[in-house]
Amino acid sequence: MELCLYHGDMPPTLPSSSDAAQTPKPVSSSGLILGIESSCDETGAAVVRGGAEVVSNVIASQIRTHAPYGGVVPELASREHLQNIVPVVRAALQQAGCGLEDLDAIAVTEGPGLAGALLVGVMYAKGMAFALQKPLIAVNHLEGHIHAVLLEAKRQQQSLAQPTLALVVSGGHTHLYLAEETNGTWHYKNVGRTVDDAAGEAFDKVSKLLGLGYPGGPWIDWLAQHGDPHAVPFGPITVKQKPYRAPQKQSPRFLFSFSGLKTAVLRYVQVHDMKSSIEARRTALAKLVDAKPADALALCDTETLNLTASFQRAVVDDLVRKTFKAAESFHAASIVVSGGVAANRELRQHFLSEGRKRRLPVTFPALELSTDNAAMIAAAAWPKFVAGDVATHNLTAEPSLSLG
Ligand code: KG4
Ligand code: ZN
Repeated sequence: MELCLYHGDMPPTLPSSSDAAQTPKPVSSSGLILGIESSCDETGAAVVRGGAEVVSNVIASQIRTHAPYGGVVPELASREHLQNIVPVVRAALQQAGCGLEDLDAIAVTEGPGLAGALLVGVMYAKGMAFALQKPLIAVNHLEGHIHAVLLEAKRQQQSLAQPTLALVVSGGHTHLYLAEETNGTWHYKNVGRTVDDAAGEAFDKVSKLLGLGYPGGPWIDWLAQHGDPHAVPFGPITVKQKPYRAPQKQSPRFLFSFSGLKTAVLRYVQVHDMKSSIEARRTALAKLVDAKPADALALCDTETLNLTASFQRAVVDDLVRKTFKAAESFHAASIVVSGGVAANRELRQHFLSEGRKRRLPVTFPALELSTDNAAMIAAAAWPKFVAGDVATHNLTAEPSLSLG
């Protein structure tokens, strides 16, 4: 199923539910869940059948809105979700060739995320479920990211060896979970976390610091290919604070930290007098309409390219090293890696080669399901739907919701 990007400038002339119901239906109407995602800066709607087949997947990205600020502006995000949610849901239904009456349930991200952004999705889904008298399923966004990998495993008809160690690594999260399915229900135990910035946040901040675009991950990912990852010896990342003891005493926690690395990049920039070239690059990119990472290559000297490559190598090495250490410690039979940073090509290569070395299978989501999307929300809702785990009318946004 191809990912469809919905742009806000597209006129919302999509069919009403009754129009969609008249179109020929390429899908049977069993096991269809409409997923809705609005936790951060993407408004997503998707129809997934039986938690396994992505029938449609539509995303309205807000990158253009937030890019000038170098990060997500919560008020602007809420406003864009409000504008986009109706056309995005209609587009997802239209592409699936189904009407509202064909749906078996409506699933929505309840948290974690931005309060105002989450509320748009939750209230819309609640209203829809109530009006249609369909079950409403609340999904944890982090669980959604893990199910993006399970969708890929199902698409490849692979079974995932269990327990699996899941690294969820995105703009807001860097978490390790030991995950296992028993009798159709997934159970998660949080065994690792970041003590400060999430890895994606570090990519975004370093990109901004170097006068590159937003979100920073894809820019650094692309430019790093042209630099020497050994040029700046950042060294392994150590977490100085006392290791946190989980309530279950026997379970060690694996701690990540990326804010020190970000400061090291800043220090490098100061010591090597890079400020003026950074400002020149920022100004040149700001003049371009829809600037892409490739546009920045001619604006980066070797020193900058080496810095991006060395920063990325330090992040990737740390994520790979600690994840495999945790997998070993918990006797995990496989590893799954998901979240926006899982789109990073160096990260994928390193995880896969380390997995081959250690004979531990590593699975990623399809690239378009690595970043936020609603297909993963509909997929994660499936086992809950089967188990009758339905949300009540009290459902509300949970910005600090945790998993495991
Ligand atoms: O999962 P996601 O879409 O949203 C959150 O739940 O946070 O992840 C977005 C994050 C951003 O920080 C972005 O810079 C990062 O994922 N990202 C990447 C890449 N693509 C997106 N980081 C590194 N390399 C990439 N190719
Ligand atoms: Zn996410």
